[in-house]
Amino acid sequence: MSPQSNQEGPEGGVEAELAALSLALQHTLARRAARGQDQMARVDRAPTVPTAPPSQSEPAAHGATHQRPPAAESGGHKPVAASAPAPMTKAAPPPVHAGDGHLKGLAEKAAGAPSLEALRACVADCTACGLASTRTQTVFGEGGGARRILFLGEAPGEEEDRTGRPIEGPAGSLLDDIITKGMGLTRDDVHIANVIKCRPPGSRDPLPEEKTQCAAWLERQIELLDPIVIIPLGRHAAGHLLGVDAPLGRLRGKIHEHHGRKVVPTFHPAYLLRSPQEKRRAWEDIQLAMSVAGLPSKGS
Ligand code: URA
Ligand code: SF4
Repeated sequence: MSPQSNQEGPEGGVEAELAALSLALQHTLARRAARGQDQMARVDRAPTVPTAPPSQSEPAAHGATHQRPPAAESGGHKPVAASAPAPMTKAAPPPVHAGDGHLKGLAEKAAGAPSLEALRACVADCTACGLASTRTQTVFGEGGGARRILFLGEAPGEEEDRTGRPIEGPAGSLLDDIITKGMGLTRDDVHIANVIKCRPPGSRDPLPEEKTQCAAWLERQIELLDPIVIIPLGRHAAGHLLGVDAPLGRLRGKIHEHHGRKVVPTFHPAYLLRSPQEKRRAWEDIQLAMSVAGLPSKGS
């Protein structure tokens, strides 16, 4: 299930989104002006939005039917041997990946891709993990990325699996508004991609081994895009990039690093649709990312 199907109800459409964004913008500008940091701030539009307490957790952005992966493999738990021997006649399907050697091969293939389009073609052919057998198509990412900003989601949902484009539907529309109305850019100015390139069945959370397999593609994608700032959307993408398992509320609002690149995590737009009160803080994160990328704040 795609994240957008997990929203509790329509939020009022583009007008409401824009109103929320501009309210957040006004609020931030007013705060800056009050601190005397932004001489261009338009204090005549000072708003009265109160500061909300930071939330400590962000539910998964990826869908209501999320199921945690079974813990058995990471828990060191060995299944008790069955008393009957395994049937010899029905062979198990061949493994689609085979340990470190395979990972190295994938990394070499990824490193050998000279361009994003070459990498996209490699990814389209990838069968390195089990998701290859359930996907409709790979979802590599899109956007020329000339402004060197990478938005990073978690994994394709149902709609993305069908269309081949990342972050579609209502969450995608909200991301569009953030990019266009909030940041003053076009969707093609940035690049939008996911940690995982294939949809997990039923839109469950990706398994650790699926993330490990797919990481080679993502790392090369990052190298080729050469972003000044990466904006992971939601705790899963942020956690993957930063190698931590922490609530988004603890990761956002700060500049982190991934292999020397600046990372500014924020809420997933699907989460913002369910928790619109967090849009103001999301906008603060976006403005932080814009300043890292050397972009002027819209309206300043
Ligand atoms: N959620 C994501 O993080 N990415 C998508 O592409 C769709 C839903
Ligand atoms: Fe390959 Fe990534 Fe798709 Fe797995 S999820 S098959 S590693 S592209």
